[in-house]
Amino acid sequence: MRTPLVMGNWKLYGTKDSITALIKGIKEAANTTTNVDVVVCPPAIFIDHVANNINGSRIELGAQDISTNVSGAFTGETSPLMAKEFGAKYSLVGHSECRQHHNDTNAVVAAKFVCAQANGLIPVLCIGETPEERETDKTFSVLEAQLKAVIDVAGIEAFENAVIAYEPIWAIGTGKVATSEQAQEVHAHIRAWLKPQNPSVAQKVQILYGGSVKANNAIELFAQKDIDGGLVGGAALIVEEFIGIIEAAK
Ligand code: 13P
Repeated sequence: MRTPLVMGNWKLYGTKDSITALIKGIKEAANTTTNVDVVVCPPAIFIDHVANNINGSRIELGAQDISTNVSGAFTGETSPLMAKEFGAKYSLVGHSECRQHHNDTNAVVAAKFVCAQANGLIPVLCIGETPEERETDKTFSVLEAQLKAVIDVAGIEAFENAVIAYEPIWAIGTGKVATSEQAQEVHAHIRAWLKPQNPSVAQKVQILYGGSVKANNAIELFAQKDIDGGLVGGAALIVEEFIGIIEAAK
């Protein structure tokens, strides 16, 4: 009942040529795997280039991060309205790398979520715990605080049209993937925590897993009841890997 969603987060990688080749390589799999939604999130400077290359395919476009402002004196930022004008449908908000390197607090992430949605983008709220937080049994409380910060500002109903991505920080770019049991436990907890607030949202919201997803571990991860697809970093840059992940989600 929840459409599987596979998103590639290209982070700060790519050239015009490599991106053209990558899209060419994944287009057919995206077009033929019609029960899986496929999204790529290029660096902002490539959004128009990607929009032109995915034209006529089932691949959709997302921004990796967006401003809390639509326009103004905010050097270096990407406006959700501008991303939308160039064809973006989604935007990540609160990726752990933005939380870490740009100091995005829960409050800033909530403001980005609201600004994305207010300007016609579907926010993909990234949440996740550090290794220390997991080791000291704080995983659930950290994730709940990250979700609550957004719900307090946007309202639970905002998740009728949003996506949640669980990305444990210890699994990002480390090759250390969460086991399917670990990931499913967290996804089920998130859904159970949302349920008393709004049962329909809890049932409908897509919850993606991210962190060292590869073609060879995606099948087992995506087979879990509460895992609705993946947010993929490194493997999204490799045609065969990304195709394998798309196919694992069908
Ligand atoms: P990796 O798949 O490279 O671990 O990255 C995950 C991620 O951060 C996606 O947003």
